[in-house]
Amino acid sequence: MEFADLLIEHAAELVTLDGSNDRPRTGQTLRELAIIADGAVAAADGEIVAVGSSAQVRDMVRLQDAATVLDATGKVVLPGFVDPHTHLVFGGSRADEFEARLSGATYLEIAARGGGIMRTVAATRAADEETLVDLGRARLDRMLRCGTTTAEAKSGYGLSVADELKQLRAIHRLSATHEVDLIPTALAGHAVPPEFSHDPEAYVELCAREILPAVADEDLAEFCDAFCDVGAFTTEQGRRILEAGAALGLPPKLHADEFGDRGGARLAAEVGAISADHLLHASDSGLAAMAEAKTLAVLLPGTALYLGLPYAAARRIIELGVAPALGTDYNPGSSPTWSMPLAIGLACVGMKMLPAEAIAAATINAAWAIGAAEEIGSLAAGKVADMVIFDVHDHREIAMSAGALLPSQVIKRGRVVVDVIS
Ligand code: NIG
Ligand code: FE
Repeated sequence: MEFADLLIEHAAELVTLDGSNDRPRTGQTLRELAIIADGAVAAADGEIVAVGSSAQVRDMVRLQDAATVLDATGKVVLPGFVDPHTHLVFGGSRADEFEARLSGATYLEIAARGGGIMRTVAATRAADEETLVDLGRARLDRMLRCGTTTAEAKSGYGLSVADELKQLRAIHRLSATHEVDLIPTALAGHAVPPEFSHDPEAYVELCAREILPAVADEDLAEFCDAFCDVGAFTTEQGRRILEAGAALGLPPKLHADEFGDRGGARLAAEVGAISADHLLHASDSGLAAMAEAKTLAVLLPGTALYLGLPYAAARRIIELGVAPALGTDYNPGSSPTWSMPLAIGLACVGMKMLPAEAIAAATINAAWAIGAAEEIGSLAAGKVADMVIFDVHDHREIAMSAGALLPSQVIKRGRVVVDVIS
C-alpha cells in the first residue's frame, strides 16, 4: 500500500496518455489518449504513485492525514502542458510592430529596417539579469495559468558572450524559483548582431569558438539551436553552429523553413537534431528525412496566425511518419502568445489535427522534444505529478474553445498551484 498526499478522483475523463511511450508518438498512436472514465490519480512527494479508476486508486493508496483530495466530477484531467519552444526571456515590447503589420508591413520588411529581432536584442542587452528575471517571472505566472508546467526557454536576444550568458542565467534563476520548470536552449545562432552585419561569417565563428564554449563551460544549456532561414543564417552557417554545439555536448534543435525552404528540415535530419521547429515551408523530401532520422517536428501555429502565413502541413507531416509536437513560440514579435490551449485550438482549426493528436503533441511528444519524456508528459506511476484540470466533460472542448478555456486547477509536483473558483 502506497502513501499518498494528493488524490484527484472521479474525473469524467482522466487523459493519461499511458502506453506507447517508448518513442515519440507518430501516426495512429497520436490518437491513443488512454482515457479512464471515473479516473483517479494519486501522488506522494510530487510523484505519481497510482493511476486508474477511482475505485482502484482508493484501494491502492493510503491517504496521509493532511492529504489534498480533489473531486474532479464532471472534469477532464490531463498531464500538464509542455511548451517545447519559447523565447520567454526578453526585454522591451514590439507592440508598434504588431500594429504596423496590421497595416500591411511584413515581418521581414520590419526586420530589414532594423526592427524585429534586433529591437529585442537592443532591449535585452540594455536590461540587467535581475530585470530579465522579473520580466520572466510575470510571464511564467501567465503560462502556468494556461496550464504550462514545463517549458523550453531559448537565449538568442543577447548575441554576445556576456549577453547570451546573462539571458541563460536568468532562465536558470527562473527555473529554480518558479513553479514552471525550464529547459534552457542556447540560441546564439538566432540572428547576426549589428556589430557583425558586415561580416556574418565572423559572427558564426564567434558562436562556435566563444559563445557556445562559454555556455557549455557554465553548463547553462541543454540544447543548441540555430535559425536557418531567409533573412537569417544559411544552411552551412547553421550546420557550423550546430556541429560546434554538438561537440560541446549540446544536442541540436533547429528553427527550420519558417519563411522559405532553405533545406532546414533536411539539415535537422543530417545533424541528428532532436527537433526541427516551424516547418511552414518544409519540403516533402526534407520531412521524409526527418522521419528517417526520428527528428520531431515542433509545430508553432501561433506564429503562422500572427504572421498571416499558411500553417505547417501537419496532416502531411503525420502522414510521412514524423512525430509532431506543439508549442507557442512565445516571443515579442512573431508569436506574442504563451497559451498552450490556444496552440491546441489552432492546431485543430488551422492545421486540421484532431483534438487527441493536438493533446498528445502538447504533452508527451512535447516532452520528447525537450528530452524529458521519462519524467513528464503522461500520467503514470513514477512520473512527476504535473496536471491540469479543465471544467468540461470532454477533452475536445479544450481544443474547440480556441484558447478561451483555461484550467480550473493546475498541479505542479503534486501541489495545487492554480485554483480558479468556478
Ligand atoms: O521563432 N524565427 C525566429 N525567431 C522567432 C522570432 C523572434 C522574434 O521575432 O523576436 C521565431 O519566430
Ligand atoms: Fe522561435
